[in-house]
Amino acid sequence: MYFLWRYQPEFMGLKTHMRIPLLSKIFSELMSPREFRRPQANYDCIRDYAKQTLLFLTGLPPHLLVPKAFAARERIVKAFETYFENKGYETGSEMTRARRNILQTYGIYGQDIARMETVNGFGILLNLLPTAFWTIWHIISDRDLLKNARKEAEAYLQGNDDWDSGPGKAEEDLPLMASTMREVLRCHVAGAATRMVMEDHFLNGKYLLKKDSMIQMPNSVPHFDKNEWGPNADQFDAYRFVRQEGKKPHPVAFRSWGGGANLCPGRVYAPRLILTVTAMLIRSFDISPAETNGRWEHPGQDTSNPAIVVVQPQKRTMVRVSPRESF
Ligand code: HEM
Repeated sequence: MYFLWRYQPEFMGLKTHMRIPLLSKIFSELMSPREFRRPQANYDCIRDYAKQTLLFLTGLPPHLLVPKAFAARERIVKAFETYFENKGYETGSEMTRARRNILQTYGIYGQDIARMETVNGFGILLNLLPTAFWTIWHIISDRDLLKNARKEAEAYLQGNDDWDSGPGKAEEDLPLMASTMREVLRCHVAGAATRMVMEDHFLNGKYLLKKDSMIQMPNSVPHFDKNEWGPNADQFDAYRFVRQEGKKPHPVAFRSWGGGANLCPGRVYAPRLILTVTAMLIRSFDISPAETNGRWEHPGQDTSNPAIVVVQPQKRTMVRVSPRESF
């Protein structure tokens, strides 16, 4: 993986810099390298489609109102159809095979599986990539945090250049970086969990939730609750999850992996990938801001798409990347 970065231009957008190795890993590990040879093109389709999620949900004709997003969706559906017709899943991940088998058990076949995987695809990519972006952004823009995270990264990687050969469990072996990533998932969050009420219920003895109605629970409400997270709940604190003292927040106060029957099955895989890629990046390269007189500027958050959990940065962060002397 180091080589995927080593020969990229020295001056480029941080998001692009992260995206190249992550996309190639995700497509090759979850699907199969043979079928998804152009990860960037697939990602572009998923991104263009996801931008218009709300309009698709209205039921208005998308091919007339958002033709670019519609064409993007159909391209990625087609790619999945070909993938399933060619039995690409046989060399893909166990998760992809299991999902196909379960869907078939419930009578869902062919094109419908392709369409379901298309939606999952944007859940997977569009949450994972911004989580990786913000994790690396917070680490490299804070000198002390970078110093401490680098110590962890060097001990964890032990000179390896490919994350497959990583010796241990990233979340346990990179505690400070894992805490930073969890804080990213707490703070850079948008979206709302949507649930159907199965039976009449008085919430807190106060609010009647009627059977068959839908409720939406915005993630940001529990995530910034001072009763759970303490007086600095509004601030980003990379060390929050490595501190032992104080009362632990209620598990439901952290919604970034969802919960209940829909709990994210990628919640083990995603941190391992993000943390190992981040570890390789900070261990091997010096990264500095390229357009803002050497100062890191917060790129702002694009909260316009409620369909995704982790928000995208609003502005581009251009960086200068050079190999560290010892690597
Ligand atoms: C940082 C990255 C990720 C975040 C923040 C994230 C977040 C979420 C959330 C909030 C849900 C909805 C849960 C609910 O409705 O309660 C979900 C569902 C899902 N996620 Fe993830 N996810 C991430 C990465 C991944 C990855 C890498 C995979 C695949 C390997 C994945 C596969 C899925 C699937 C298949 C579902 C649907 C589960 C179901 O309804 O049965 N996710 N994810």
